[in-house]
Amino acid sequence: MPEPQADDKHPPTHIAIIMDGNGRWAASRNRPRTQGHLEGLTTAKKIVKAVSDRGVQYLTLYVFSTENWKRSASEVGFIMGLVKQHLKRELDFYRENYIRTRHAGDSAGLPPDVAQDLRDVCEETKQFDGLQVILALNYGGRDEITRAVQRLARTNAAITEQSIRDHLDNPDVPDPDLVIRTGGDLRSSNFLVWQSAYSEFYFSDKLWPDWTEADLDLAIAAYQQRDRRFGGVKQPSGRS
Ligand code: FPP
Repeated sequence: MPEPQADDKHPPTHIAIIMDGNGRWAASRNRPRTQGHLEGLTTAKKIVKAVSDRGVQYLTLYVFSTENWKRSASEVGFIMGLVKQHLKRELDFYRENYIRTRHAGDSAGLPPDVAQDLRDVCEETKQFDGLQVILALNYGGRDEITRAVQRLARTNAAITEQSIRDHLDNPDVPDPDLVIRTGGDLRSSNFLVWQSAYSEFYFSDKLWPDWTEADLDLAIAAYQQRDRRFGGVKQPSGRS
């Protein structure tokens, strides 16, 4: 019997991406870090479309972490401006591709105008049944769990694994099957700490602005070769 090919398997239901390397991309070209973020946004749009075309149902993008506030005020301001501009300008792109936009993270800590634009886009796209793009913005995995437990503690519900999960930012979104990190570093940087417990990780040395659809396909093919056991044991061969 022939070995199963990557194409025989389904694409991941949920891909999550740590888009790292914008600053180094810019530095290697003697350009300001902000130029790298601008280029990173172009790549993000391209990859959103590619992920949508490949039948993936959820894509979480790590746009700005709860730790990224440590960067210079000008870099933070630039990224926030870029996000705002993206939300305003790309509504048609989301509409044309039936993409629903959602937010993960603490909106109370965002500049009020960015938080409002985010709410507006989430509201205006909530009826779409195509890809769901979750923008992780002012997001930290530990912060999300802390906020979830705080919300849960205000109810009388028992504290269980399920009740904590139910109070996460997007409880209905399935855990990511595949977490991709670009830029060569081998860590998860406080991304989807709860949800990635059994995710497959894929690390790419390429810097985010250099990422292409072909890199996405390589990541998906690598995922499709993984043997996911979720703590169980491998089925004997011939069984699925
Ligand atoms: C990490 O690279 C990147 C960020 C902190 C910003 C990511 C934001 C974008 C790509 C814009 C996308 C926006 C939307 C709305 C999809 P880095 O600056 O840490 O790079 P370095 O490790 O080379 O310094």
